[in-house]
Amino acid sequence: DEFEGTGVWRYDAALPFDEGVTLPEGNTPLHRVPGLREEIGVRNLRIKHEGMNPTGSFKDRGMTVGVRVAETLDVDRLACASTGNTSAALAAYGARADLETLVLLPAGKVAAGKIAQASLHGATILEVDGNFDSCLDIVQELADRGEAYLLNSLNPFRLEGQKTIGLEILESFYDEHGRFPDRIVLPVGNAGNTAALYKCFREMVASGDLAPGDVPKLTGVQAEGAAPMVEAIEEGLEDTRRWEDVETIATAIRIGNPVNAPKALPGIRETGGTAVAVSDAEITSAQRAIAGEGIGVEPASAASVAGLRKLRETGVVGSGEDVVCLTTGHLLKDPDAAAAAGDDPEPVANSTEAVLRLLAGGSGTL
Ligand code: F0G
Repeated sequence: DEFEGTGVWRYDAALPFDEGVTLPEGNTPLHRVPGLREEIGVRNLRIKHEGMNPTGSFKDRGMTVGVRVAETLDVDRLACASTGNTSAALAAYGARADLETLVLLPAGKVAAGKIAQASLHGATILEVDGNFDSCLDIVQELADRGEAYLLNSLNPFRLEGQKTIGLEILESFYDEHGRFPDRIVLPVGNAGNTAALYKCFREMVASGDLAPGDVPKLTGVQAEGAAPMVEAIEEGLEDTRRWEDVETIATAIRIGNPVNAPKALPGIRETGGTAVAVSDAEITSAQRAIAGEGIGVEPASAASVAGLRKLRETGVVGSGEDVVCLTTGHLLKDPDAAAAAGDDPEPVANSTEAVLRLLAGGSGTL
């Protein structure tokens, strides 16, 4: 394949295969954000923009491995429950592998760009009268009955691919600074990515590439209206308590029963990290601030920066820290949220004079 050994597959030594179903994915930018760094007040602040993957989210890194496994197993139907991004990625990688895909979405709670992707790539899309957690219950039952191959992050091969986010961050940061970042801040929904990063760090420590004392602190951010992981960290629980009613503008992380919590909670604890909840207003404010640096992300992604802001304000994060925030999905995933967070277009008459008058603070009509 022309993309062999690029992006995610550059790390094939850490993956279960040498190559996958690839578009290709990974190799995303680790942006500098000098204005935000100054405002938040840390030693270094970088944004790892996973929205720059082929379908616009980090899910592609998992699907390139997961769909490869499905091919090997010769399954008939791939399926996932999704708040949107997983379904977009599964639809695209399923199409690439020429496999049938089925996606279950919570009705009315998935951003427009994500549904458009699943639709155009040819997935069968079912809108369930329930939230993400009930969609996942159903897909797990379908898989148990042999009706579909499950490609949610409960599938461990997905997490193998997502480990490469950690590998890329640590490698790039080390190349530039000669040290590893102190902390990685990421939005948390089903907690798959948190579990994947933790596994990445454990393997790097085991291979001797990372000293135990250099492991970045895994710091999870949730929306206040969907924060069972924050509750579990604060109360010292082994697993989360299922929240039946969840709500947030960050629909990607509108999840009340994070199935990977038992794998992710030890990662947050053992790396010395923490978990924090942010309001929808804080998420929107962070989305605007990131956009002010030229980087367009969806609301769930902005939660990472909103969480870092809060942790700096409360002094949990010190001014001397090197921090990487993960932005998990692209702005265009949720055009409605972006338009609502941004400035409204202004109507103007069809004349240069009217445009100039409006720009000078006057009326744009004739
Ligand atoms: N950010 C975005 C943009 C997401 O789409 C998701 C999860 C997360 C963060 C949270 O990642 O689940 O590994 O903790 N989206 C899933 C989906 C649930 O269906 O697209 P996590």
